[in-house]
Parts: sequence; C-alpha cells; structure tokens
Amino acid sequence: MLLNNIEYGLMNNPLRAAIQRRYEARRLLRIGGRMAAGAALEIGCGRGVGVELILELFGASTVDAFDLDPRMVSAARKRLRDHGDRVRLWVGDATAIAAPDATYDAVFDFGIIHHIPDWRGALAEISRVLKPGGRFYTEEMLASFITHPIVQRVLDHPRSDRFDAPTYIDALGRCGLTPLGSRRLGKSVVWCVASKPSVR
Ligand SMILES: C[S@@+](CC[C@H](N)C(=O)[O-])C[C@H]1O[C@@H](n2cnc3c(N)ncnc32)[C@H](O)[C@@H]1O
Repeated sequence: MLLNNIEYGLMNNPLRAAIQRRYEARRLLRIGGRMAAGAALEIGCGRGVGVELILELFGASTVDAFDLDPRMVSAARKRLRDHGDRVRLWVGDATAIAAPDATYDAVFDFGIIHHIPDWRGALAEISRVLKPGGRFYTEEMLASFITHPIVQRVLDHPRSDRFDAPTYIDALGRCGLTPLGSRRLGKSVVWCVASKPSVR
C-alpha cells in the first residue's frame, strides 16, 4: 500500500538516506557479503538511494528496481539518470513482479514487505525471480513496531497478519529460501539474508 504523507516525508529526506547508507545497508552487507557482480532487483525502491548502494556497496553490475508509487519512481529516475543502462526502473507491485523466473542473482528489500497485505505472496514472487544460488537481502519492520500506539497514530500500515522475526524467517523457508544469517533490533526490526538453493 502507498505511504501516507508523513511517511512519504520521512522516506524522502537526507537523514533517511544517511541512515540507509551508514547503518542499514552495512548490516545486510555484514550478514550476506557482496554479490559477485551480477543482476540485482530492488523491490519498493523509493527514491533510488538503495539502487546506488546496491551498485556501489554490494557490487551489482546492473539493478532493476520498481515501486508501487509513480512519484517515487519518477524521483528515482531523476536521481539515477547518470547510470545509463545499468539501471532500469518501473512502476510495479511486489506481489506480481514483472520478470521471468530465475532472472536475478540478488533481490533487495529495504523495508517494504511490511507495507504489503499479501506479504507471503511477495516472498513467493521474490523466490520465483531469484536464480538458484541467488540471495535475498531483506530489512523489515516487525509487528511490535507497526502496532505501537504512536506508530499506529502517525503511519499507515496493513494491520492484520503482520509478522514477528521468527514468523518472517519461517515464511522465507516456506518459499524455498534458506536463511544464512539474521540480526534484530529488539522486536522492531529484522535484517536477514537468505539464499535460494542451487540446483544439483
Ligand atoms: C518505507 S518505504 C521504503 C522505500 C525505500 N525502500 C527506502 O528504504 O527508502 C516503502 C516503499 O514501498 C513501496 N511499496 C509499498 N507497497 C508496495 C508493493 N506492493 N510493491 C512495490 N512497492 C511497494 C512504497 O511506495 C514505498 O516507496
């Protein structure tokens, strides 16, 4: 679902970019390491800061990225215009990813799956578009954060069927993704890297 005006403002400012760059991406990097070049996908790319990090910090050769909100995609297009054909952007939905099976070496999620009512459907789609041996780098906000009275007052999230860290990690396994490692910030945030097993 789309962000309300408050969260839209929180996501589109330099402080958010600094936190994503200095803290969040580095957590995922410590758990899952860099990609060996290859093709990456970012779901819910917002204004495109994650795409820059996937290229610079994680070492992807190319990044495809989409967001449900056309305003975000247009901001990302502006930000990423100097990357030429290394970056492709579109308006899209993580529950129906516009890519063939086994397309990507890595998929990245910087905090979007908790915005999706059918979040299990999104995980199944991520697993589908990953190549065997590919990795899913995910950072997610957990039920305790979303259901906090102050957060509920100011931000809009789907409220039913939200997840804690064990539920989320179990759901990754049910979609055929094997968790390689995870970290948590209390009961509010989880970072996890999972891999799709290689075919023998
Ligand atoms: C909390 S923001 C995070 C944005 C960006 N990843 C970042 O870290 O700054 C969540 C983003 O997910 C997008 N979004 C929500 N539901 C989506 C869906 N079903 N498919 C794709 N994007 C979605 C929203 O439009 C928003 O840009």
